[in-house]
Amino acid sequence: MSHEISVAIAYHSRFGHTANQAEAVRRGAAEVPGTTVRLIAVDAITEEDWAALDTADAVVFGSPTYLGDVSAAFRTFAESTSGRWASQAWRDKIAAGFVNSGTMSGDKLNALQSLSIFAAQHGMTWVSLGLLPGWNRSTASDQDLNRLGFWLGAAAQSNGDQGAEQMHPSDLATAEHLGRRVAEQTHRITVGDVRPVPAEV
Ligand SMILES: Cc1cc2nc3c(=O)[nH]c(=O)nc-3n(C[C@H](O)[C@H](O)[C@H](O)COP(=O)(O)O)c2cc1C
Repeated sequence: MSHEISVAIAYHSRFGHTANQAEAVRRGAAEVPGTTVRLIAVDAITEEDWAALDTADAVVFGSPTYLGDVSAAFRTFAESTSGRWASQAWRDKIAAGFVNSGTMSGDKLNALQSLSIFAAQHGMTWVSLGLLPGWNRSTASDQDLNRLGFWLGAAAQSNGDQGAEQMHPSDLATAEHLGRRVAEQTHRITVGDVRPVPAEV
């Protein structure tokens, strides 16, 4: 990869689990040469973070699942992008998403769909997880990559009585995969200087 790209990871996490997943996405993206990665906690977003989002080639959105959807803090961030939505400032940036919840399903697909619709409203180009499902055969195991069987993005399940450092290794490896894939796809799509001219914010 001869050119440089930047990936921003905009996430919310109240108890640290989604933050740990975001860190795994960061590790994966950073493995791809020529990639700069920035983690942004959306409930403590700064002017520098907004500037990084505006200039990023790709933004990966992440949220815990609260009552079957993205958290209120993520939603507050989403709604605060309405000026950028109006000018389509983020149009054609690469986007992807990851979600976390306490149960295996937890309705977190709904949260992931919210992230993808948010990206679509901004005119962004959504990158899928790009993995076959794991843990779906008698010979399979919960250690499989994509053990929760998602396609739209990366999912994680976090036990309510365990801290973020005890998250399932498969879910963290799946998040790393998403980060790598986003960086790879962003390199592929932006090569040859076809990246869009940023619209006015
Ligand atoms: C207000 C609230 C609502 C929640 N709703 C759900 C839910 O709908 N489905 C689920 O499986 N877990 C639910 N959980 C559990 C969280 O998704 C889970 O603890 C997650 O790992 C928290 O991520 P965080 O540590 O990044 O905040 C909820 C937790 C809270 C605090």
